[in-house]
Amino acid sequence: MKSVTDEAHRRIAEVVCNGDVAIDATVGNGYDCQFLAELVGDSDKVYGFDLQEAAIESSRSRLQAAGLLSQVSLHLVDHAQMEGMVLESDQKKIAAAVFNLGYLPGSDKTIITQSPSTIAALESAAQLLRAEGLVSVTLYWGHQGGAEESEAVLQWAESLSLEHWEIEHWQLSDTKKPAPSLLALTKKQPAAEES
Ligand SMILES: C[S@@+](CC[C@H](N)C(=O)[O-])C[C@H]1O[C@@H](n2cnc3c(N)ncnc32)[C@H](O)[C@@H]1O
Repeated sequence: MKSVTDEAHRRIAEVVCNGDVAIDATVGNGYDCQFLAELVGDSDKVYGFDLQEAAIESSRSRLQAAGLLSQVSLHLVDHAQMEGMVLESDQKKIAAAVFNLGYLPGSDKTIITQSPSTIAALESAAQLLRAEGLVSVTLYWGHQGGAEESEAVLQWAESLSLEHWEIEHWQLSDTKKPAPSLLALTKKQPAAEES
């Protein structure tokens, strides 16, 4: 059966091309990061963020084994700081920013993404994105604190201007809460100026 991750990856693959720049805001065990690294190709152009050393090391091993480590710069920092870590030359050029919220699978389930820093990071990602770029957010409703964070993220998304953003909230139709869901935000092309 198709999962929310499959749907997120399908959408990411539609926008990220060889030579593009992308962000993985929560590298975790590196699955999304590897997916992004494969899409961008040889360019040194995936920024990965996580605040747990175990996640950075797990991702480093996965990328190394896949021969993709040189495509990715891994940063052991809160994703709320991403704007300062992205090179000036890559600002406004990000094709996709991927958020996979919650806790590091197989690790301490009390270390979770939290709405204040998640929303600060989403604000930054929205700024860094290029036109027609995608912010993909996988929301988890089941763990302690997950529903509150997911609601806060959806509320934040509702505050975005529909003139500038296409906003979709996607769920498998045959699953019940607390199944994960996907928030997909696509930045619209700015309207052409009238001459
Ligand atoms: C569900 S996991 C990510 C899964 C990952 N994308 C993958 O493909 O394996 C969520 C990750 O978010 C990280 N995290 C939590 N708060 C964070 C923050 N403020 N900044 C960056 N990463 C954070 C956790 O350490 C955890 O590794």
